[in-house]
Amino acid sequence: MSIRVLFLGEIVGKGGIAAVKGALKPLKQERSIDVVIANGEGATGGFGLGKAHSMQLLKLGIDIITGGEKIYYKLDMVEFIAQNPSILRPANYPQQNPGRGVRYLNVGEQKLCVINLLGNADFPRTHLSNAFSLAQYLVDQALGEGAIPLVQFHASPTAEKLTMGHMLKGKAAAVIGTHTKVLSGDATILEGGTAYITDNGRCGSQMSVGGFDSQVEIDKQISAVPTRSQECWQDLELVGVLVEIDESGKAVGIETIRIPVEEH
Ligand SMILES: [Fe+2]
Repeated sequence: MSIRVLFLGEIVGKGGIAAVKGALKPLKQERSIDVVIANGEGATGGFGLGKAHSMQLLKLGIDIITGGEKIYYKLDMVEFIAQNPSILRPANYPQQNPGRGVRYLNVGEQKLCVINLLGNADFPRTHLSNAFSLAQYLVDQALGEGAIPLVQFHASPTAEKLTMGHMLKGKAAAVIGTHTKVLSGDATILEGGTAYITDNGRCGSQMSVGGFDSQVEIDKQISAVPTRSQECWQDLELVGVLVEIDESGKAVGIETIRIPVEEH
């Protein structure tokens, strides 16, 4: 039996949650999706993930929520993430940090290992261990356990994500980039059966700046006056990639998904 894993793009604000609410359940049924992994670190107003929103997203059919540099922005998540193994933070945060960066789960006869990592570049306020050497270690460990490694790489530069994809090709079944919140056009199967995309986009407003109201972002660029970004509701979509993995643990397909959702 093949396994179908949906990797949803970053869920941005209430519009992002509305997109999940409106489109995820029917999609799971229609496409026989086994597991849903979503980046959720911007679900609360675009900056962080509160406990209540994380619980709502898990109820809406997401199996594993991954994080990035904003995972600890909401204070109640710092405590909650330690208790909930379905919410990951990057594995390359200091080991004693709350939460975990790896989750094993069974799908039928097979075992998956979801690994969340944060990129080396552009996150000066975080103190991380090297994402690449840790990725090698964790992927080898998963393979040693007989699990299929799936890597969610939350990183900024395209080159860093491509490097991770090529480093893990033939070992991980998927290396899926997040953080830039723009669906990239390079979904492919790398040599050896590794599904790859530089960025799996965002769930939420598509007519916006990364899910935020564009006029506020324009004003910020011109005036340089610090202003709070505002959630946007225009052209909501559920966005991500659907990866198909065969019995041998190799990816045999990757397809980008974009489903428009009516605002209610
Ligand atoms: Fe991020």
